[in-house]
Amino acid sequence: MAKYVINGGRPLEGTVTINGAKNAAVAILPAAILVSGKCRVENVPDISDVRILLDILQDMGAEVIWEEPGVVSIDCSAVTSTHPNPDLVRKMRASYYLMGALLSRFHQANVALPGGCNFASRPIDQHIKGFMALGADVDETEDYVNLTPGPDGLHGNRISLDVVSVGATVNIMMAACLLPGQTIIENAAKEPHIVDLANFLNTMGARISGAGTDTVKIRGVQTLKGGTYAIIPDQIEAGTYLAAVAAAGGNVLVQNVIPKHMDCITSKLQEMGVKVINYDDSIRIMSGGKLRHTTVKTRPYPGFPTDMQAQVCVCMTIAGGVSRLTESVYETRFFGYCSELEAMGADIVINGKTAIVTGIDKLHGAKVAAHDLRAGAALVIAGLAAEGTTYVENIHFIERGYERIVEKLTALGADIQRVEE
Ligand code: UD1
Repeated sequence: MAKYVINGGRPLEGTVTINGAKNAAVAILPAAILVSGKCRVENVPDISDVRILLDILQDMGAEVIWEEPGVVSIDCSAVTSTHPNPDLVRKMRASYYLMGALLSRFHQANVALPGGCNFASRPIDQHIKGFMALGADVDETEDYVNLTPGPDGLHGNRISLDVVSVGATVNIMMAACLLPGQTIIENAAKEPHIVDLANFLNTMGARISGAGTDTVKIRGVQTLKGGTYAIIPDQIEAGTYLAAVAAAGGNVLVQNVIPKHMDCITSKLQEMGVKVINYDDSIRIMSGGKLRHTTVKTRPYPGFPTDMQAQVCVCMTIAGGVSRLTESVYETRFFGYCSELEAMGADIVINGKTAIVTGIDKLHGAKVAAHDLRAGAALVIAGLAAEGTTYVENIHFIERGYERIVEKLTALGADIQRVEE
């Protein structure tokens, strides 16, 4: 078991480069199943979720090569299995994208229910509703989802999602790609990685329009061909470094970002008193470490992302005054980290969907444990801002989504070490 040991209280200075987006990568890599030929994918983050997905694809017969850091070529031409290794599938959440991809290419799929971060109940009823609308028979047990063509065969259809779901939008987009006819997803999610997946698939020959709006149209095609595609920068990784500078203080250039994707985050940090300058593909952030209280409500994109809830909460714990943080996507998400922050001195009262955070002067170091990916990132930020030494355990959660986080923070002047026990 490894942990991070952080001696806090040092401002962050310098430049940090953001990797490709985790949530785009975990959609695009399984989408390679739809492609006849080689996909060369650039800006792939080297994180454990990506490694697991590539292992799953390789295990199914795909040829996977890391050509150089950040560049993976995948050729799924030789894949014949529609039953990915359940032990690998259960190691991560986004493995459910294999369902849509396999259904589209092979007209069947037998996929174990996914694992990953359990910060809330995470149903997949909207994915299933989509598959059924596309003509699939769905047999769902406690452990598996088995998809086969229904009596009328698989075909495009109109699907209106009951909740705005990233996962369901992605899965239905993939499933519809190679089916005859047109599919229209209404009330679709609009996250940047939905647009990125559509751009990847269109580069390979798919006919998807409207991604990034709440109506996505997919006109089925017979085959997708290989090609080269670069994944967008990670909005949440970038947001995490911005929050780290806000909380610990300092002056950092965060590069390889799309500033437009960051507006929902930077505008809140600016309200809290940090200075932000946007450039074409980078953002400079300057913080004296003295923050003002604010109000945040998480929402689907373009709202403030739920995946930044925990990181902004850390900023609130040391901001002057009383902040309110309302979660509207995953209501139980506070429980993954608020008690850990309290062990560091934070004053947080959870009232249903809202955390009321009364700012204190300084957090203090403590022994804390990550319970999910973003909660873990928040504890690292808290450790950087705190007085004294913080020990963050369960760091495998953090390494699911942050490439070389210790190296990157060290280069910014943080005192953080990864210690193997
Ligand atoms: C994705 C992200 C995750 C982020 C989340 C919300 C990936 C790989 N993961 O997760 O990091 O926290 O979006 O931005 O991109 N819901 C249902 N039924 C469903 C599907 C979802 O009720 O079939 C509900 C969920 O419980 C939740 C809301 O819809 O309340 C949004 O979930 P969704 O957008 O699907 O999240 P994920 O795709 O799992």
